[in-house]
Amino acid sequence: MSYIEVTYPESKDEFFKFLEGQLELYSGGEADMTAALANFSSVLRIAYSEANWAGFYLVNGGELVLGPFQGRPAVTRIGYGNGVCGTAWREGRSIVVEEVSCFVGHIACDCGTHAEIVVPLRGPGGEIWGVLDMDSTVPGYFTEEDRAGLEGCVRTLERFYIGR
Ligand code: SME
Repeated sequence: MSYIEVTYPESKDEFFKFLEGQLELYSGGEADMTAALANFSSVLRIAYSEANWAGFYLVNGGELVLGPFQGRPAVTRIGYGNGVCGTAWREGRSIVVEEVSCFVGHIACDCGTHAEIVVPLRGPGGEIWGVLDMDSTVPGYFTEEDRAGLEGCVRTLERFYIGR
């Protein structure tokens, strides 16, 4: 497999259709969860040109543990309810943060980060088994459209990997 350079459409509708295709192409056929999540992170980092971090934290032993990602080294463990990731896990919902310095309890991994989005990953019974996390140096970079679109991408991922 060799990666082919692509240009993402400007319109958000088209962007997410295209993104879903790329995610399916590079992660869809892979039965190994780590390999699939690694390529998923890479595709997201490429799709979001101003993202400085894209990756996963997976529930393990009652906390979130760093999984496959693209970007600078990051905190390896996040407690339930801590930071943006642990809050999304506790509240069972996606969180879009325009400016991380305004989010009480935000865990800083890169002082250049301003915006963040976290989307929970759910199993067949609705239980959360991890979160997708993306960061950007651009304030307000992630929007409600991105939340809806990335939730769609994550639903696709869950369909591939239910029963992992
Ligand atoms: N900012 C996150 C921690 C993970 S890094 O962004 C990669 C948080 O507050 O949970």
